Amino acid sequence: MKKINIAIDGYSSCGKSTIAKGLAKALNYLFIDTGAMYRAVTLYFLENDIPIDDPKAVKEALRQIKIRFFLDEKGQQHTLLNQRDVEKLIRSMPVAQHVSQVAAIPAVRRALVKQQQEMARQKGIVMDGRDIGTVVLPDAELKLFVTARPEIRAQRRYRELQKKGLNISLEEVRQNLSQRDYIDSHRQDSPLRQAKDAILLDTSDLSPEEQLKKSLELAQKALQAATDKS
Ligand code: DC
Repeated sequence: MKKINIAIDGYSSCGKSTIAKGLAKALNYLFIDTGAMYRAVTLYFLENDIPIDDPKAVKEALRQIKIRFFLDEKGQQHTLLNQRDVEKLIRSMPVAQHVSQVAAIPAVRRALVKQQQEMARQKGIVMDGRDIGTVVLPDAELKLFVTARPEIRAQRRYRELQKKGLNISLEEVRQNLSQRDYIDSHRQDSPLRQAKDAILLDTSDLSPEEQLKKSLELAQKALQAATDKS
């Protein structure tokens, strides 16, 4: 069976990663959370006091960073930073507050985009992020651009963090999301944009099951089109 690559982009907390994980599971593809990679770099910079306005220090730090993913026995994905499981730490508020600034550094993007393109070379990848359809995988056979109304996104993110036992107010979540939206879509290097050939998917009024059903239909169509073409 032919394999395709699927690019999923959109603002934070729109349901991108739920869709991407669901698609990867249903198609037996590999899921790559590129946001986790930017978060892992941010954690490294914070823990090692790397001054992000010092290009030399940033370049040197990037050389020391190895990011890998592994699936645990429950099928949950974990991010490894230099062989340390940092899955929980990269979701913390200090990382969320700094990640957009780190993700705006061209040297950081260059290093991570290169790794992401290598990971996708084999096909059979579902990759979620901000620049996947525009920069990382411009030839992906299916591109989705996921959106949801800001209030819905804040509520979803807030519930997610509460479930993880993090004590953060809805207002703080709202502010963090809107600040990240602004930086992600206004940075000079590969800002968040809908690729011309991406399909817009608004998840505001869709349950997770409905989101997955819709995405899966689109994936089957793209897969059929790619098979017909070959
Ligand atoms: O998807 P997320 O919220 O975990 O992403 C964390 C940050 O990383 C987000 O503020 C934007 C940045 N990011 C990016 O610039 N490019 C990507 N491909 C993925 C994430």
